[in-house]
Amino acid sequence: MPDTPSTPTQHALVTGATGGIGRGICFALIEQARKDGVRLHISAAASQHGDKLEALVHELRAKGVGASGVAGDITDPTQCAALVAKAQASGGDLTALICNAGASGPGKLAELSIAQWDLTFNLNARSAWLLARAAREQLARTRGSVTAIASMSGLHPHPGNGAYSAAKAALIMLCRQLAQEWAGEGIRVNTVCPGMVRTPLTEAMYQDADIHARRVALVPLGRIGQPDDVGAAVAWLSSAGAAYVTGQNLVVDGGVADHMLSMLPGRPGRAPVDD
Ligand SMILES: NC(=O)c1ccc[n+]([C@@H]2O[C@H](COP(=O)([O-])OP(=O)(O)OC[C@H]3O[C@@H](n4cnc5c(N)ncnc54)[C@H](OP(=O)(O)O)[C@@H]3O)[C@@H](O)[C@H]2O)c1
Repeated sequence: MPDTPSTPTQHALVTGATGGIGRGICFALIEQARKDGVRLHISAAASQHGDKLEALVHELRAKGVGASGVAGDITDPTQCAALVAKAQASGGDLTALICNAGASGPGKLAELSIAQWDLTFNLNARSAWLLARAAREQLARTRGSVTAIASMSGLHPHPGNGAYSAAKAALIMLCRQLAQEWAGEGIRVNTVCPGMVRTPLTEAMYQDADIHARRVALVPLGRIGQPDDVGAAVAWLSSAGAAYVTGQNLVVDGGVADHMLSMLPGRPGRAPVDD
């Protein structure tokens, strides 16, 4: 559908856009905008400017959307606010904030340093609160949405993974609370929990054929997730099609997180155990 002056415009700020899932989200937003017949500007955020961010911006523009690169360390409260301001300056009021940047910091809780705990919480949970708060007035004007990327580790304890599970669980609850507090302003807030997704964060593991095969065996849908799988869910939650959805957590994991009971020896569908 050709653009006209009255074509509605959307503006999404995507953090961690240069990472695996972030890229998947950007391209899924483009696909969704094309289907919905809206014009799109993406503010692609990374921790710092550089070739990777510039290359992504070029790729996005080549797909026919507006795009700009913005950079800032989201563990720093001042930089969270600055990131949102820079995005607004380049693409106008946000219609969607996608809090995707995050990482785990392995370690046993008994030995974890306070600095590592704080870093994991600041990166995975506090940043979403600060970014959303900085974007609230814009999102209220556009009746926009916030979507944060949590993890199945936020639904189930992940032993040995430091404060990651606790931080992602906090992120899910943060978004449920924001959804309630901001619904009156027309702002929707949801989370997406990816399962196992092949990205630079996890690539080293999937290089090992044995680990790869054993991981696939745990997924009822029979494959490791791709960034596009998560992107499609985020794009839908950010779209008008999800206009009545808020405070929800969408698990995108091929069924793996609900798979535990089917693994019990002796249960229907499993080989009987030898006594
Ligand atoms: N991959 C999985 O299997 C999986 C599963 C469940 C949940 N997740 C979640 O999905 C999200 C994306 O993961 P991914 O696999 O795509 O990871 P990734 O490829 O490592 O990308 C992470 C992104 O986060 C950005 N980032 C990291 N620290 C930052 C900081 N302090 N300030 C600003 N940006 C920062 C990085 O930007 P720079 O490169 O510029 O530093 C990078 O673009 C994360 O929240 C992760 O916890 C992933």
